[in-house]
Order: sequence, then structure tokens, then C-alpha cells
Amino acid sequence: MILAKTAAAGDRGLLPEVLAFSSSMEQDRALVREDLIGSLAHLTMLSRTRIVAASDAATIRAGLVDLWTRQAAGSWHPDGEEDVHMAVEAALTQSLGDVAGRLHTARSRNDQVALDLRLHVREQTALGLESLASLLAQLTAMAREGMDVILPAYTHRQRAMPVSLGYVLAGWGAMFARDVDALAFVLQQVDSMPLGVGAIAGTSLPTDREITRGLLGFSRLSANGLDTVGDRDFALDQSYATARLVLHASRVSTDLIDFATGEFGFVTLDGQIACGSSMMPQKKNPDVFELLRGKSGAAVGNLMTLLTLVKGLPGGYNRDLQEDRGPLLSSGPLARNVLDMLTLALGRVTFNREKCWAAIAGDYTQATDLAEALVIAGHPFRSAYQAVGSLVRKCQERSLPLAQVTLELAQSVDARFTPEVLLAADPKGSVARKESAGGTGPKAVAAQLTALEGHTERARALARSVPRLAGLFDTLKEASL
Ligand code: ARG
Repeated sequence: MILAKTAAAGDRGLLPEVLAFSSSMEQDRALVREDLIGSLAHLTMLSRTRIVAASDAATIRAGLVDLWTRQAAGSWHPDGEEDVHMAVEAALTQSLGDVAGRLHTARSRNDQVALDLRLHVREQTALGLESLASLLAQLTAMAREGMDVILPAYTHRQRAMPVSLGYVLAGWGAMFARDVDALAFVLQQVDSMPLGVGAIAGTSLPTDREITRGLLGFSRLSANGLDTVGDRDFALDQSYATARLVLHASRVSTDLIDFATGEFGFVTLDGQIACGSSMMPQKKNPDVFELLRGKSGAAVGNLMTLLTLVKGLPGGYNRDLQEDRGPLLSSGPLARNVLDMLTLALGRVTFNREKCWAAIAGDYTQATDLAEALVIAGHPFRSAYQAVGSLVRKCQERSLPLAQVTLELAQSVDARFTPEVLLAADPKGSVARKESAGGTGPKAVAAQLTALEGHTERARALARSVPRLAGLFDTLKEASL
């Protein structure tokens, strides 16, 4: 075992309890590829700057490549050390001997872990963008199918206005389109190469961080070592973006849970995504959507953990930061799990056209259209609004849906109601007429869907722009030394 400890730190080893308490080995195992790639790039830089002789660099590289191959085959798991960085060095030392000790020249675990975490977040964000693109594509396709299904939109969970199903789905898509922006911001923030600042203040050796940056596919170098080793803003950004998209999924889930109730009846869940009850034989439950909603706890928890972790830390590296590992490593898989399951489950939801229509046909959701028809006829909105309110009240007293209102009844309320104005009581026309930008009219929704296709493409292009770990390894294993 290589303890990162000299006589200066006291030469009595570490109490096993302290080692167990302070080790991040278990969680760090998820970072082994990132750590090996960082080491390959650092080694290449050390060789090109002649800090390490090319022949030694070749030997060390062969050892690192061998570790990559063995971890990929599952025949080596970093273990027995306090973290993945020491485990890699220990394994190299075991196979190569003293020459392995040249790898850590001009590097500290402080900048090394910062690099591993950034490589990890970058990779996970690319994967998240791919999942997000699939969800957006699914919503857009369903929206195109749902243009002529009409259902109520809700405010205060009360029926508000008739809308097309296409509009509802485009609305869900609009939330997730903003998550493309959030993940793009994560990529932009993470795109700063930390390696080479060492423990805190740089190195006296003639390193060239630009070489490492280029090899690892980052756009810029971190600006200042003191800041670099204590900076976890990119992890905050990742967990915020994750929390936000999981919250979006939770809102869609609540709508679908409600829509699947006997009370709404707007959707039927395919048997393959519906769960049963162990006692009540009749049950068909939306557990998948409840679980999607329930993932919010973990997502928000990750963000809170990281925010609390960095609050009040002094400058430079502090070991508190190792506690970033749980939230940071879980955010990526959590985001993808939620996005992928939502995409899958949405594909197994059927909207019941008749039930949706019945909720409109028997109600008063086109009341605003009637008021707007009076406005078109030249009357002030506020008095038109009052007149329609009185008319709705009269209809309700007679259990008469607004679509069935008669001219006689309307004129008994207000003489300004004409046959032409009353045409606005047709709920289908209500949807068709709302062509203001961002509205539920078919042309307005078509524009929204075109925009969503743009966001889907943007998510895919962003994902493609990320240098991926597997590709980096292929380059680094034979880069000139
Ligand atoms: N395992 C540590 C972490 O994850 C690596 C950095 C340790 N640095 C130190 N000076 N103890 O943060």
C-alpha cells in the first residue's frame, strides 16, 4: 500500500479506522477510466517537455494501457489504497517498479481529482444530452399525432381552456428544451482543464499545460491554481441541471398520474408499464410515474449536499471536497434513468380521444372565446367578460353546457350577444382560433414543434461535440511522446 504520507506526517502509518473513514476507494472506482486517461495525457506532456525521458514514458504508458485493458476486462479493480489515484500508482509500481514514481511529477491529487471529476461530468453530460434528445423526439412525434385530440388545459387544477393534445405535449417538450440549455451550460463550465496547477500554486518544473489541455480536448486552462483545486462549481451546475430536469419529469408524471385516474380518464396505461396491487384485484396503478416523481428527492438532495459542502470552505483544497463523490457520481445516472424511463413510458400511454372531448363538450372552457368574440364586435373586454360570466352562471343553473347555449338565453343576459358572436362557443373553433405565438392554434403548435426539432438536433450535436473517454484513450495510447 502506498500511503500519501511521509515521515513529516508522522511515520506510524494510519489507524485502520482512520484509513477506512477517509478512503474514497469504493466510490472512486467509477473514475478509473478518467484517472487513467488523465495520467496518459499528463505523461505525454511530461515526455514532450523532456521532464520524463521518452523511454521511461513509453514504459509507464504501456503499464497504464495494460491497466486500462485489465479494468475493461474486469480482471483488475482499483483497490487496497485510499483513493483511485493511489491505487493506479500502486498497481503501476507493482508491475513496473520505481520508474512508475515518475508519473506523479508536477501533479497533485488535488488537481488530479479535479480533472477526473471534470472528465466524468463531461462524459455524463454528453450521455444525458443523448437521452434528452430521445425524449424530445418522442414528445414531438406524439404531439404530431395528437393535433386533433382536444382536451382541457388546467389552471388551479380547474378546467381552463380547450387545447390540442399536440399543444400539451409541445408544452412538456418546451420544459425539456430548457434542459438542453442547462446541460449546455454544464458543458461550457466543465470545459476548463485543471491539471498542472499541482497542489495549489503550480510547479517550478518546465511543464506545458497547453499540451495536456489539447490532448484531453478542453477549450481552456483553469486560470488560477488556488481557485482550481477548490472549485466544484461544475458539480453544482451538473446537480442543478439534473435536479431541474428531474423536477420537470415529476410535473409531467403528476399530469399523467391524474390523467390515468377514473376521475379524469384521459389516458390508458399499457399493461406493460402499469403495476397492480397485492391485495386489491382491480387495481392498475401508475407506479412508474410515481417513481419518476419520487426521484426528485434524490436529485434535489444531491444539489443541497453539494451547496452545503462548499459553503464557507477556505481557499485551496480541503478534504471536505471528497464528500462531493456521492452526489456527483449519482447525478449522471439519475438524470439518464429518469429521461430514459419517461421516454419509454410515454410511448406506452394512450390518450382517450372521447374522454378528453367529453371534458370539453360538457363544460365552459370556451367562455374566454365568447368574450373575445364580443371584443371583435367592438365591445370593451371587461364588460364582455362580465356578460359571459353571467351567461355561464345562467347555463350552469340550467345544467346547459356552454356549447349548447341558445341565442334567446344569451340575449336575455346581454343584448350584445349575436348569432355571429355565439359561433365562438364551439370548442373546436376555440382551439383553431388561438394562433397567437405560443398558443394552441395548429399553426402556432406547428411552429413550436419545429422549434422542438431544432432543440433535439442541438442536443444531439452538443453530445457529439464532447470528446468521449473511449476515443481519448484510443488517441492517447499512441500519441507521440
Ligand atoms: N481522494 C481525494 C479526493 O477525492 C483526492 C485528493 C486528496 N488530496 C489530498 N491532499 N489529501 O478529494
